[in-house]
Amino acid sequence: MCFVFLFFFLESMATELSLNINIKEPRWDQSTFVGRAKHFFTVTDPRNLLLSSRTLEDARRVIEDYRMGKASPGLTEDQLWRAKYIYDSAFHPDTGEKMILIGRMSAQVPMNMTITGCMLTFYRTTPAVLFWQWVNQSFNAIVNYTNRSGDAPITVNQLGTAYISATTGAVVTALGLKSLTKHLPPIIGRYVPFAAVAAANCINIPLMRQRELKFGIPITDENGNRLGESKKAAQQAIVQVVISRIGMAAPAMAIPPVIMNALEKRAFLKRYPMMNAPLQVGLVGLCLVFATPLCCALFPQNSSMRVSRLEPEIQAQIREKNPGVEVVYFNKGL
Ligand SMILES: *[C@@H]1O[C@H](CO)[C@@H](O)[C@H](O)[C@H]1NC(C)=O
Ligand SMILES: *[C@@H]1O[C@H](CO)[C@@H](O)[C@H](O)[C@H]1NC(C)=O
Ligand SMILES: *[C@@H]1O[C@H](CO)[C@@H](O)[C@H](O)[C@H]1NC(C)=O
Ligand SMILES: *[C@@H]1O[C@H](CO)[C@@H](O)[C@H](O)[C@H]1NC(C)=O
Repeated sequence: MCFVFLFFFLESMATELSLNINIKEPRWDQSTFVGRAKHFFTVTDPRNLLLSSRTLEDARRVIEDYRMGKASPGLTEDQLWRAKYIYDSAFHPDTGEKMILIGRMSAQVPMNMTITGCMLTFYRTTPAVLFWQWVNQSFNAIVNYTNRSGDAPITVNQLGTAYISATTGAVVTALGLKSLTKHLPPIIGRYVPFAAVAAANCINIPLMRQRELKFGIPITDENGNRLGESKKAAQQAIVQVVISRIGMAAPAMAIPPVIMNALEKRAFLKRYPMMNAPLQVGLVGLCLVFATPLCCALFPQNSSMRVSRLEPEIQAQIREKNPGVEVVYFNKGL
């Protein structure tokens, strides 16, 4: 008995970590819901923001060594994966530079819940609306800058233009919706930020993808053989993307207002009105941490459509060349 343990003990001391682990890919199988959810939770884990620069440098050394085919003795597979996710959280994938703190993936959830929570709390006055729209777009610009690609660097000019037009668009939409809802009941006013997100997606996505609406997107049969291009499929793909974007924002922006509207009439919030913003931020955070990733993981990337709903020319073409095909498939895009 003892011998067996001793044997395993010695053997585990002696075996070096295999050098064939692909640390470029996520640790978990991305074709399953659970795998995607685990990967997403690890990548956005806000605790990575608190790591010391020493821990970051250690992770960098482990990863750089491993890439060159060296594993420090005693390194386990778990430690290697942990180092990979720490490394990815802080260093830019192309340039290897340390990234700005609030532009990292691990800052997304805390920043987003603060911005969304404040937008939902301070929606009554015009200066407050302007201010939080500006904060949101500035944050987006920092994320864009942090995440810029290394081989085709985007210029400061391009970043500045995107920043100004994004901020103008967001402010105009929010103020426009605000003035429309001025005479409606207060619960409607609380939904202005959500309506602004929905409106922006309904305008931006079709605008960005107008080429596809004009010329169509590739459709295939179930084995991936290309059958042609379809505008009807493009329309369906765009509608699905708009719905899923709005669906992703929905838990965080639609649930807290109902709860806050009910709570505001209670004694506690009347007595401590400054608890309004922290409560709202907390509620948004709960929704972002749990509901949003689950919603993201729900929608499959491949969409399908019956041949009878395509344009008549393409229907005719498919009937002639591939008479057995009843359903076509297409990538719905992002
Ligand atoms: C940065 O870009 C990568 C791919 O290039 C993407 O996976 C990631 O979500 C982006 N990060 C942020 C914070 O947008
Ligand atoms: C912040 O801006 C981004 C990009 O324009 C948008 O997708 C997001 O919904 C905005 N956040 C809020 C809370 O409105
Ligand atoms: C960030 O980048 C995206 C995609 O390039 C762009 O649509 C958006 O307007 C940018 N946001 C800001 C605030 O610059
Ligand atoms: C914050 O989260 C919402 C809901 O998931 C999303 O629609 C929005 O784009 C995010 N905003 C930022 C600034 O990341």
